[in-house]
Amino acid sequence: MSTDLDDLRAAAARCTDCELYADATQAVFGAGPPSAWLMLVGEQPGDREDREGAPFVGPAGRVLDDALQRAGIDRDEVYVTNVVKHFRFEREGKRRIHRTPTVRHVRACRHWFDDELDVVGPQVLASLGATAAKALVGPDFRITAERGRAREWNGRQLVPTVHPSSILRGPPDTREAALEALAADLRVAADLRP
Ligand code: URA
Repeated sequence: MSTDLDDLRAAAARCTDCELYADATQAVFGAGPPSAWLMLVGEQPGDREDREGAPFVGPAGRVLDDALQRAGIDRDEVYVTNVVKHFRFEREGKRRIHRTPTVRHVRACRHWFDDELDVVGPQVLASLGATAAKALVGPDFRITAERGRAREWNGRQLVPTVHPSSILRGPPDTREAALEALAADLRVAADLRP
């Protein structure tokens, strides 16, 4: 296993472990300090992330930044990554529409996440959305029942919460409350800061 994030990023850029590499622009590896206390784990890069090569830089990233700020967490202190490193989408005319990665994609990509985890060694993780939580906890995980509750996970603390994009998909008049609920879950992680 490589012990350097730059080496891992370079290796992931050449990844052909599943077919998603073929249509994506590039692999989007995690970003943030190499010894962050908190790792945020999303699903897969979106359209913007695929083009820019960095995680959570599009609309969902703006929601995440807002929630982090409300929770008193500086994005610069956090390592942000995804369980799948290539964008899965289907084309509708000129638009590229997000498709949820399958268990097979998550499994094929898992070794990159495991390597990131080993190198960064965060004390706390927060999974964003069902795909990430299921990848870490297992297929029976239910986000509505279990969000915002810290649990022991492989010697670390894990706080599962919703995906920021779920807030954007919800009706506009529910967004402020949903954002505050995401921030409250992230505050649970902030309270575990070493
Ligand atoms: N959604 C994710 O899960 N990850 C990103 O990086 C962007 C959007």
